[in-house]
Amino acid sequence: PAATDITDGGGPGPARGSTLSVADLRGPDAPAPGGARRTHVLTARKAAVRLPSGADVHAWTFDGVAPGPQITATEGDLIEVRLVNHDIDGGVTLHWHGYDVPCGEDGVPDLTQDGVKPGASFVYRFRADQVGTYWYHTHHASHIGVLRGLYGVLVVKPRVEPDIVALDLVVPVHTFNGDAAVAGVEHVTAAGAMVRLRLVNTDSDPRRFALAGTPFRVVAVDGRDLSGPDETSRTAVRLPAGGRHDLVFAMPETSVALHVDGVAAVWLRPGPGAPDGETAVQETSGWPELDLLSYGTPVPVPLRDEVANRNFTLVLDRGLAMVDGFPAFAQTVNGRGHPSIPDELVAEGDVVRFTVVNRSLETHPWHLHGHPVLILSRNGRPPSGSPLWMDTFDVRPGEVWEVAFRATNPGIWMNHCHNLPHAHQGMMLHVRYD
Ligand code: C2O
Ligand code: CU
Repeated sequence: PAATDITDGGGPGPARGSTLSVADLRGPDAPAPGGARRTHVLTARKAAVRLPSGADVHAWTFDGVAPGPQITATEGDLIEVRLVNHDIDGGVTLHWHGYDVPCGEDGVPDLTQDGVKPGASFVYRFRADQVGTYWYHTHHASHIGVLRGLYGVLVVKPRVEPDIVALDLVVPVHTFNGDAAVAGVEHVTAAGAMVRLRLVNTDSDPRRFALAGTPFRVVAVDGRDLSGPDETSRTAVRLPAGGRHDLVFAMPETSVALHVDGVAAVWLRPGPGAPDGETAVQETSGWPELDLLSYGTPVPVPLRDEVANRNFTLVLDRGLAMVDGFPAFAQTVNGRGHPSIPDELVAEGDVVRFTVVNRSLETHPWHLHGHPVLILSRNGRPPSGSPLWMDTFDVRPGEVWEVAFRATNPGIWMNHCHNLPHAHQGMMLHVRYD
């Protein structure tokens, strides 16, 4: 197997004494007490997919559909997924984006497992111990595989639902050949009923969502609840590549439209044929963006005041760099492109801080596997509202973000730009426990 042994000296760091093998860091084989075993088989195969626009695309799919089948579990369940590759030549894996699985379940080819070749399979097992909205995607040549359709949504519900939600709707956005595919175009639920929208951006560029016709609350970001969310209206939410936001609202007497980048994509109606009211004609592209750094109620923030054991600075740029011993045009971190970027070495229990500096003219959605990161500041300004845990945050041109995480999940973890072509062009490195 390709699984990397941490003692193999593969990274440029000093020799370490650990004999940890990533491939051995596997999930449990049983649910938590009272939980269920949720078994799925996902078969990766090529298929023609009809988009909501009516266009047909030659997609790479799980089970013939894109998005792939939704995986739903309850907190404490064991999720067990057998990935079968039917005919995706290069190979396929399943990465559980935002889910802090044991490293051997993380689905990174040549790092945590071999890519699954046609005719082969691999079984993933992990506990559903994070409630919220997540997604899964191949991590094998993901700049091709995800774009062609190898993705789906993972939703984990709490054992006891805090609110009665009449309509709980997953809205994954994905663009095929320039055609934005938003699944599920029209829904009816009674006036007054609670609606939860789970917005998922599976693209490589940010997407701007706006809810026309109702106030709403953002109750979770990247699967994690916010504290005391306020009601807002006539604001847009911007999701980084890979990001999720959960919105909640009470269905009004007139119809509501969810706009994606200014276009009405999903309709929610209080009854069949209910009037559109103003919603159909509202122009949302000028609405201001909701500022998550001042949203929600201030509460004590873990990690923020702790002294970091490790500090890393990542300067993101683009240009000529040494990549694997040769000069190449690359998306770079500290002047180098993958695989020439040194690993970041941490120890279990460390508080690790990253300062991410974007010196380029493009947005870089920064993503760490295996750990949520706490946002400490954006351009020097700390969040004033709810603690904000994200797994992917957009570092726009010229911005500086400080984030922190606690190293509690040993292994080797990708730390990369989630603009997947950028990652392919060099913008990725590893965090590695010594
Ligand atoms: Cu969403 Cu490294 O992945
Ligand atoms: Cu990037």
